[in-house]
Amino acid sequence: MIDATGRPQSVLVLGGASELARAIVAGLVPGRCRTVVLAGRPSERLEAAAEEARTQGADVVEIVAFDATDLAGTPGVIDAVFDRFGDIDLVLAAAGALGDQADLESDPTAAAELITTNFTGLATALLAAAARMRAQGHGRLVVLSSVAGERARKANFIYGSTKSGLDAFAQGLGDSLVGSGVSVTIVRPGFVVGRMTEGMDPAPFATTPEAVAAAVIGGIESGAEVVYEPPVLRWVFAVMRQLPRAVWRRMPG
Ligand SMILES: NC(=O)c1ccc[n+]([C@@H]2O[C@H](COP(=O)([O-])OP(=O)(O)OC[C@H]3O[C@@H](n4cnc5c(N)ncnc54)[C@H](OP(=O)(O)O)[C@@H]3O)[C@@H](O)[C@H]2O)c1
Repeated sequence: MIDATGRPQSVLVLGGASELARAIVAGLVPGRCRTVVLAGRPSERLEAAAEEARTQGADVVEIVAFDATDLAGTPGVIDAVFDRFGDIDLVLAAAGALGDQADLESDPTAAAELITTNFTGLATALLAAAARMRAQGHGRLVVLSSVAGERARKANFIYGSTKSGLDAFAQGLGDSLVGSGVSVTIVRPGFVVGRMTEGMDPAPFATTPEAVAAAVIGGIESGAEVVYEPPVLRWVFAVMRQLPRAVWRRMPG
């Protein structure tokens, strides 16, 4: 159960090896999160994330196989977690891929896979989790969106459009859950210096996984509906959204 300070005691991470998710779990476990379920594609990185959560002091840490592109199998994965571990206070939707825009433009099948992972797969998982949380009468879904979804840029519109879709979905889901005891927090980080952006030049207002984690945990505790990291991006993108298309399409890659 979420305690009086709003801290979850159990978390299911979709994309358990994600660098941002690992930083968030590292913040949750010392805050009394006892059960950590890491759902992801089997890998050494996923095993390492589980070991990390054990070392941090979680009592129960389990890995569950989850591939966001397995749309038919996803509701069963979510149900099995809730059946096995009982109430889950927090579901963190962290799975996602950035891809290389040029490669994706020349390979529509690869683009479709990325779109499935980032949007359709997570939407499927979130619907299944929301139903279980609605039945238990409480819980929070935290969705890692991106400022890239605020307005798709020519240079990465495939990734950006998946984040726009996921973000819109999460907003609607959150509205549909009002009164159920379940809520949704949408997180819109800017450029995070880390694994996903390795080798890229940092964009203005670049941040770190630790800063994103602190912002997410603050958002969970305050019950925020939307979290920007860094916070200034809320106002930067309020302006960016108003730029004429002719100006916006000249934005550098
Ligand atoms: N890093 C940034 O600059 C940034 C900025 C804004 C938003 N975000 C979003 O934040 C989230 C986490 O990103 P991150 O920085 O932590 O990147 P990351 O370390 O690359 O984590 C992404 C995770 O998604 C998992 N994943 C990819 N495809 C999957 C699939 N088909 N099924 C299940 N899992 C899959 C990956 O699994 P494997 O380990 O098996 O590859 C990986 O663990 C993403 O949704 C990303 O779009 C990131």
